[in-house]
Amino acid sequence: MRVLGVETSCDETAIGIVDGKFRVVANLSITHLEHSAFGGVVPEIASRMHIKLILPITEEALKRSGLKLEDVDGIAVTYGPGLVGSLLVGLAFGKSLAYFFEKPFVGVNHLEAHMFSIFLNRQVPKEPYLFLIVSGGHTELIVMHKPGEYEILGGTVDDAAGEALDKFAKMLGLPYPGGPMIDQMASSGDPSFYRFPRAKVEGLNFSFSGLKTSALYYIREKGREYILQNINNICASYQEAVVDMLLSKVKKAISSTHIRKLGVVGGVSMNSRIRQKFNEELRDVDLHFPDPEYTVDNGAMIAATGIYYLQRGIQYGFDLPAKPDLIFEK
Ligand code: KG4
Ligand code: ZN
Repeated sequence: MRVLGVETSCDETAIGIVDGKFRVVANLSITHLEHSAFGGVVPEIASRMHIKLILPITEEALKRSGLKLEDVDGIAVTYGPGLVGSLLVGLAFGKSLAYFFEKPFVGVNHLEAHMFSIFLNRQVPKEPYLFLIVSGGHTELIVMHKPGEYEILGGTVDDAAGEALDKFAKMLGLPYPGGPMIDQMASSGDPSFYRFPRAKVEGLNFSFSGLKTSALYYIREKGREYILQNINNICASYQEAVVDMLLSKVKKAISSTHIRKLGVVGGVSMNSRIRQKFNEELRDVDLHFPDPEYTVDNGAMIAATGIYYLQRGIQYGFDLPAKPDLIFEK
């Protein structure tokens, strides 16, 4: 069995093909660089880019894997959460393929797919997993009792972790998305150079807006020259505050649930300091990060989630709408 996965929820047009054993047959994506000059994703540009790229990327993924659409056994498409126009492009495309080639069609929750990213080229586990999903739009702590059975423990009350990094980068005049550049500059900086405040939020929720505001005042107070002279140290200090806030809630979730299997997924889990500090401080936890190519938005994670449900006989009708605010409804 092979499934073609279509991902167009934000600013990556991505196609993946995965087989019945969760092995990745193809994984191709293009990030729209057109947004960088605007300091964030422009929904109208994203929709237009998806329309332009979706067919050539699909053709290329099939060519590279030596397959034809006839060889695929199902079509899986992200139907939320995400930008409505972007989701609609992927859905219309995927539904058309499924209809024309008479293949089963399955809608995929983008957040669930990020969780599945750690099972690619491996197996879906039988035991419960704790997940930290950290992306540009989400920061969620979730228990996967088993695929399809989720318990949300906490989430952000304001900005997402990726947003906190991207907005800080914007304050420094860096192009969008700033997360990877902060990571890069921080790698040669001192995280104890300045102590940005760590928000104290009830339970297992997160808050990053106080950190963002404190950074704004810090930049204003110190002035441009000082900031530029100490840019690596300041990036490392800010990034450290984000990592510490994530880590402290994860530790709390581990001690309250007693689940010792942890997946850290979503674009921000690419961050090298997160990977380093989580590995150092959670030594007695079975910790998993996705491989780099499956960390930021990709088609393979969508195909893998689709395979899981299609193997259990679950398919969707062509009346499935785009759900921009989807969290968990399965
Ligand atoms: O999962 P993703 O590709 O898209 C969404 O579903 O949002 O995540 C994108 C986010 C952006 O905020 C980007 O800045 C962040 O992931 N990101 C990083 C790194 N690479 C990507 N943040 C910190 N360090 C990185 N190396
Ligand atoms: Zn994502």
